[in-house]
Amino acid sequence: MATHKLLLLPGDGIGPEVMAEVKRLIGFMNAHGLGRFETEEALVGGSCYDAHGVSMTEDTMRLAAAADAVLFGAVGGPQWDGVPYEVRPEASLLRLRKDLNLFANLRPAICYPALADASSLKREVIEDLDILIVRELTGGVYFGEPKTITDLGNGQKRAIDTQVYDTYEIERIARVAFELARQRRHKVTSSEKRNVMKSGVLWHEVVIDVHKRDYADVTLEHQLADACGMQLVRWPKGFDVIVCDNLFGDMLSDVAAMLTGSLGMLPSASLGEFDRTSGLRRALYEPVHGSAPDIAGKGIANPIAMVASFAMALRYSFNRDKEADLIDQAIASVLAKGLRTADIKSEGSKVVSTAEMGEAVIDEVKQLAA
Ligand code: IPM
Ligand code: MN
Repeated sequence: MATHKLLLLPGDGIGPEVMAEVKRLIGFMNAHGLGRFETEEALVGGSCYDAHGVSMTEDTMRLAAAADAVLFGAVGGPQWDGVPYEVRPEASLLRLRKDLNLFANLRPAICYPALADASSLKREVIEDLDILIVRELTGGVYFGEPKTITDLGNGQKRAIDTQVYDTYEIERIARVAFELARQRRHKVTSSEKRNVMKSGVLWHEVVIDVHKRDYADVTLEHQLADACGMQLVRWPKGFDVIVCDNLFGDMLSDVAAMLTGSLGMLPSASLGEFDRTSGLRRALYEPVHGSAPDIAGKGIANPIAMVASFAMALRYSFNRDKEADLIDQAIASVLAKGLRTADIKSEGSKVVSTAEMGEAVIDEVKQLAA
């Protein structure tokens, strides 16, 4: 059995609490022949800033580059609001994405039947929802230069962010979306704002071109990003795969999260290009939720998004679909049995702690594997 080297970066707030449940699961899998994982752990985000004056150290960057996959918890919190922009907690995550060239961010939004009533939307709108947002992750306004605030000297300041995309960046993310659609319901919705943005005009053009050349078997639709947000809450089951830029993807995936009941449910995978010689690719897995400082330290956070992110690592980095399926099924049946963390509680359900939820998932994996 191959040994998989994981770098764990729990981060801040509820990050360490939800990561603890993944560690528990990894320990169980190692002990029961369900995999062979070696883990290293490092500080990242605000906790790293407190220890080292930066939110990411060079040593940790080297560990991340050497690992088979990185598992990331969450970063940030009000106590770091005043730290310099360059070393703010979020900078660590953006550097990992950029330096490891993790350009493709997969954010599946699945509504487990048991949770259809936890969403603020009507049951029939979201029941059995299964869509995938493919977000470009290393370009656009997140990284474009110039990115400045200038003093105009007349009592005014000017802030500039730059939205920039080259053809190759749009082409490669479009390919990821079309390839994934082929394993699903063969439909891609491309979302931009070509009615006001030049980057949207190019995005639209390149996606059409890639589609025509290599993916004519997949249905391609286009939706302006604002309309796409509206459709996501109106009738989300009309979508299969949505492909969009970095900023629209950030917003649309938070919207999609609420279709599943809670932000605490959404995992994500951030993937790089396949290496031609090794056939491997860099990857980072993280929940879509943040560090949730308001509930940190209380032991009540939902660990499901973090655990499901680990399952995505099994699927996309290690080709262990069987074990990934086991974990996903375990999550579904724990929910079906009525166990809920506070964020997804509903009438008649049993509210459990972070650790109890983690243990329940392991118990299910144990039974399903037997
Ligand atoms: C996300 C987060 C990040 C983003 C933040 C923490 C920088 O919101 O992964 O969606 O904006 O990409
Ligand atoms: Mn976000």
